[in-house]
Amino acid sequence: MRLQGKVSLFFGGLFLLIIIQGVFFITHDRRIFHREMADTGRLLAENLAEISRESIASYQFSRLLSQVESIRNKSDVEYISIVNENNLVLADTRSQYEGWIFSGELVRETVIEQDRSTMLVRAPVYILGTLRGNVDIAFSLDSLNQKIKENILVFLLFILFEVAAAILFILVIEIQLVRPLDQLAAKVTDINPNTLHDPIILPSSSSIEITRVSGAIDQMKNNLKKAQDEIISKTKMATMGKIAASFAHEIRNPLEAISGSVEVLSYDIDEKASGFEYIAIIREEIKNLNGYLENFLEFSKTQPVHRIRTRLNQVIEDTLLLLRPLCLKKGITCIRKYYPELADCYADPWLIKRVCMNLLLNSIEAFDEKTDAEDKRVELETANPGSGYVQLIIRDNGSGIAPEHLDKIFDPYYTTKASGSGIGLPVCRQIVEQHDGILTIASHMNDDRAQDEDRAHDWNGTEVRLMLPVFARTADE
Ligand SMILES: Nc1ncnc2c1ncn2[C@@H]1O[C@H](COP(=O)(O)OP(=O)(O)OP(=O)(O)O)[C@@H](O)[C@H]1O
Ligand SMILES: [Mg+2]
Repeated sequence: MRLQGKVSLFFGGLFLLIIIQGVFFITHDRRIFHREMADTGRLLAENLAEISRESIASYQFSRLLSQVESIRNKSDVEYISIVNENNLVLADTRSQYEGWIFSGELVRETVIEQDRSTMLVRAPVYILGTLRGNVDIAFSLDSLNQKIKENILVFLLFILFEVAAAILFILVIEIQLVRPLDQLAAKVTDINPNTLHDPIILPSSSSIEITRVSGAIDQMKNNLKKAQDEIISKTKMATMGKIAASFAHEIRNPLEAISGSVEVLSYDIDEKASGFEYIAIIREEIKNLNGYLENFLEFSKTQPVHRIRTRLNQVIEDTLLLLRPLCLKKGITCIRKYYPELADCYADPWLIKRVCMNLLLNSIEAFDEKTDAEDKRVELETANPGSGYVQLIIRDNGSGIAPEHLDKIFDPYYTTKASGSGIGLPVCRQIVEQHDGILTIASHMNDDRAQDEDRAHDWNGTEVRLMLPVFARTADE
């Protein structure tokens, strides 16, 4: 059964109970009111019968009248009548009936008769053991009925409010809980690899709890997507690495044979003889092929990591020393913004130098398509950002990375360069992760895709952020 059904059933049962309870209490109240009135009436009638005995015995009927008058003002008394043994009215609050003779039997003991609007209490008057008359007191039930009516009205009003509140509650459950849950279930069922990135959108009326659940599912989808990408990337790297290793191995041997043969041939040919330039070309191409194979082989191996206390500023400086000639050639200015009190990091300096080299080469290569640009800058900024990390930001104003490429650049063999191999960034990430560090890349391009006012930046190009764990001093140091 659906939730609304259960809630409606619950309220239905509850109202039935409340109604039964209400009917019980109203009936109970009515009975108590009647009993109270009957008791009062019996007391009054029997008292009046008692005090009227003497007047009836001595035929002093005028005294009877004053006795009757003395209690006629009691609340709810409609009329009082005293008759003798012949049913002759001796005294009556309704003066027109005095002297009348009523038909009907006299009562021998106190009797209470009741219809919808009146309660009649009749008490006998005995003198020396002989029945000498009756005292009748009639009470109006109007005010009592009115009281009961008021009680019923108040009870019905309560029921009405409670029904309205229950309907409101069921509506709120329907709008805030049931409908959003249905939609959420449908959307969760629809999740597939293509929709992992789409956030779940629920109606704004959804309750906070449902919104939280949908937020958690979104978060789970993102984590799933990340884990999926990571697995794909790692599997790709491992597979490609293995292929590269065996491929390189198989090519290397014949290549060495070719290289040896070329060397032997070159001894016999005079350097000035025609065709010698071809030997130089073969040598050059063998060198290129070897370099390419080295590259693949290096990628296929996971480097052992020897982490020590490392000064990041120094590692960057060492890397820049190697790249200075290239920067000079391409007219690129390297701006160092080293933080003088930079904490030491816990890293393998050789591997981090490899990372810096790859990242800086990418920045330098980012100007390949902007050969005419006048202001070619690569900024290197170090900082202590806290949270246990040392930070290096490499910022260039080169070509930037188009948004559609940004989430692929860490995929092995993904490259946009004609001569690139696409393994620089995957290797960097692998090394940084081995160091428990973080490597992120952001890019801003001054083209139509990024002309959003909110995303305006004072630079266009690429910003790489490398975070490495701070070296923690141990007690014995
Ligand atoms: N600073 C940068 N500016 C612009 N594009 C960049 C930058 N860094 C990386 N990229 C983009 O990321 C892609 C992948 O970079 P990666 O270093 O992995 O491979 P590559 O540079 O193409 O080749 P290689 O393996 O020789 O490094 C590049 O092809 C380029 O499109
Ligand atoms: Mg590269």
